[in-house]
Amino acid sequence: MSGVNEIRSTFLDFFRRNGHEIVSSGPLVPRNDPTLMFANAGMNQFKNVFTGLEKRDYKRATTAQKCVRAGGKHNDLDNVGYTARHHTFFEMLGNFSFGDYFKDVAIEHAWTLITKEFGLPKDKLLVTVYSEDDQAFDLWKKIAGLTDDRIIRIPTSDNFWTMGDTGPCGPCSEIFFDHGDHIWGGPPGSPEEDGDRFIEIWNLVFMQYEQKTKEERVDLPHPSIDTGMGLERIAAVLQGVHDNYDIDLFKALIAASESVTGTRAEGEQRNSHRVIADHLRATSFLIADGVLPSNEGRGYVLRRIMRRAMRHARLLGCEEPVIFKLVPALLAEMGRAYPELMRAESLITETIELEEKRFGRTLTRGLSLLDEASQGLEKGDILDGETAFKLYDTYGFPVDLTQDALRARGVGVDLTGFGDAMERQKKEARAAWAGSGEAATENVWFALKERVGATEFLGYETERAEGVVTGLVRDGEEVRELAAGESGAVIVNQTPFYGESGGQVGDTGMIVASGAKSELKATVTDVQKKADGVFVHLVTVEHGSLRLDDPVELIVDVARRAAIRANHSATHLLHEALREVLGGHVAQKGSMVSPDRLRFDFSHPKPLDPTEITRVEDIANAIILQNAPVETRLMAVDDAIESGAMALFGEKYGDEVRVVSMGTAIDGEKAGKTYSVELCGGTHVRRTGDIGLVNLVHEGAVAAGVRRIEAFTGEGARRHLEEQDQRLRDVAGLLKVSQTEVSQRVASLIEERRKLERELADARKKLALGGGGNGGADASVREVGSVKLMARAVEGISPKDLKGLVDDAKKSLGSGIAAIVGVTEDGKAGIVVGVTDDLTDRFSAVDLVRVGSAALGGKGGGGRPDMAQAGGPDGTKADEALKAIEDALAAAG
Ligand code: ALA
Repeated sequence: MSGVNEIRSTFLDFFRRNGHEIVSSGPLVPRNDPTLMFANAGMNQFKNVFTGLEKRDYKRATTAQKCVRAGGKHNDLDNVGYTARHHTFFEMLGNFSFGDYFKDVAIEHAWTLITKEFGLPKDKLLVTVYSEDDQAFDLWKKIAGLTDDRIIRIPTSDNFWTMGDTGPCGPCSEIFFDHGDHIWGGPPGSPEEDGDRFIEIWNLVFMQYEQKTKEERVDLPHPSIDTGMGLERIAAVLQGVHDNYDIDLFKALIAASESVTGTRAEGEQRNSHRVIADHLRATSFLIADGVLPSNEGRGYVLRRIMRRAMRHARLLGCEEPVIFKLVPALLAEMGRAYPELMRAESLITETIELEEKRFGRTLTRGLSLLDEASQGLEKGDILDGETAFKLYDTYGFPVDLTQDALRARGVGVDLTGFGDAMERQKKEARAAWAGSGEAATENVWFALKERVGATEFLGYETERAEGVVTGLVRDGEEVRELAAGESGAVIVNQTPFYGESGGQVGDTGMIVASGAKSELKATVTDVQKKADGVFVHLVTVEHGSLRLDDPVELIVDVARRAAIRANHSATHLLHEALREVLGGHVAQKGSMVSPDRLRFDFSHPKPLDPTEITRVEDIANAIILQNAPVETRLMAVDDAIESGAMALFGEKYGDEVRVVSMGTAIDGEKAGKTYSVELCGGTHVRRTGDIGLVNLVHEGAVAAGVRRIEAFTGEGARRHLEEQDQRLRDVAGLLKVSQTEVSQRVASLIEERRKLERELADARKKLALGGGGNGGADASVREVGSVKLMARAVEGISPKDLKGLVDDAKKSLGSGIAAIVGVTEDGKAGIVVGVTDDLTDRFSAVDLVRVGSAALGGKGGGGRPDMAQAGGPDGTKADEALKAIEDALAAAG
């Protein structure tokens, strides 16, 4: 029979022809189950469909599901490489009925597929049923024609399948294949059942119940079907081999491993090649699904798998990284069925190589320490916990790697001693922290961190996920419950909510009961990161209550997050564009990424001119239009910086950092190369086109040598431009011209206005001087005693122009006194008095102006004997003021 790829498609196609929807595998990191570390069965993604919480538009489905059994409840890691059928990663083929068909059709389909499509001989097959399930027993007899001795009743939990402590469950019936009497082993239920002769190939679960809690089990709304067939096992059967590692897929991977390591998969080396082939699959699929090696949670399981494989590569004599070279072989085998592998190819390759390089550095030293410390230990002996801890702490050896390394010699590891050493180190860290003077209010977060560990962030991959409540805090104190109306902080084991950091604001959204089991609804108003990795969700409970240990569903406000993503990615583009336009001295000094706008502060000595602003905008928008994928990878800090990624001076980075790259430089010295590369833990758009548009709306100074820009993206930018457009339309309407003519029209209006102002000023002057065009005697000039007095009240002339008028008047009088009161639009008055030089020994302008000012209700006034100025609040008294001056003059004269 055919290869793994054909077997997979034969299976899916068979069920498609029988009315099943082919559904893609769910991700390895389950979104709908906080208790599950990795997907471990095909039914995981349908959990809520079985229980009736979720409706799909099909009632029958078939899948090939990616599964990982390492870490968490099912952990096969330790056995991989040493047995014929253990894997960290495997594929489970399955067919599902959601309240549609039940036992009879399930058995019928299974029997037809394996005997007709796959052509397995009936005499090699036997089945088990749950001991009380007479119905299944009878159906096998009727449909498959199996004799009673080939339908084995199993009374134990082996034939009652449960997903975990809770969830859908039911009795099951398993199909076994007899590999022949040359292999030791007995049928299921017999004393020799653990032998390798009879191998389970397919499990049919008759889903009937839901385990709600440990004690409570209820009926599902409709009896359903869930089946699981290990693809690697059925491939072994169909390819006539007994060992999963002898199927075509593993043969190809092992051949590639032989070729890159230059060794043969024989003798002692066989297991190492198997470990490498298996771990390559788990590693690559996990990375493609968003898990990256780290020291916490899922990331640490991945790191353990990777490092275990690396030690085996070392056993094969490879001192340099080799495993990353196997990625093409894996893609050739599995890339067509799992396009996510193809998409993540470079991320997978680079992440593996990086981990190989990093660990390679300490592996040699760790191994020699291990050799030294375990010298003289014999089969049955135990390596002390202190050494195991030192290997872990100093050399990065996961404890299972140490166990694996000693396994061949039959030497164990003192795990209690290892745990004690770990606890001691934590205590020391706590003591060091307690003395560090941090505010006491932060204590609660450190205590939580120690008890429940760092929160696993799922938000790069998803905006909705389930988590278990591991901590609740109200008014700085840990509590067991937050009731309706109360506000406080919630800690969960994993979350899709981003915690404020790197300038990006925290997410907001909702927390509801997992699976709508209660009416709980809490609003998340902000998320902060505390104590180095604890995500603190600030909430107000609207309905129901939040309780410790409850599973909850965390739902991020997606529209807001999308806007934040766009603003964050645009910040990177603007940063690079500013460097391109202004120069390499531009360095980030601060940034704020919110859903509404982005703000970016950077070093630059002077304001940007309009051409520079336009160029920055043009460049950033050109990269947006490339619609290039935004790539994220994990790198060692030093390598990342060396490769040109922009890092922030003074920022604290871990050993490894996320590096976000986007776009291709269009010109300049980087032409053709990746445009923006930055170290960044924020969330970003998938493709630059998702930013839509970036629009700079503000440029200004924040401090000496630091400029600030603000910008809008996407919908915000569009709305901003629309408002501006509306304003332009309004103006054009008022001016009664088309929009394109507005600036021309405004320019000519300004020019016209200037001209008019000039003319008006001239006209007013003329008027003030009594020109009026009568060319003859001026009515405002009279003789007072022997002195000519010109006294006038004028309107609409500003006080500062009055002096000019008085000067002119003095000139036209030749010898005399001019007094002009100017009344402003708001009714106040200014007064200027001028005395020609020949009269200043007789009359002082200052004295005269004071007389006038007093009449206007003002005080004082000042100037020189030939020219003085004053003011007063009451412009209606202009004539009285002039009269008072005339009287004063008469009296003096
Ligand atoms: N869910 C069942 C299993 O994993 C089919 O065996």
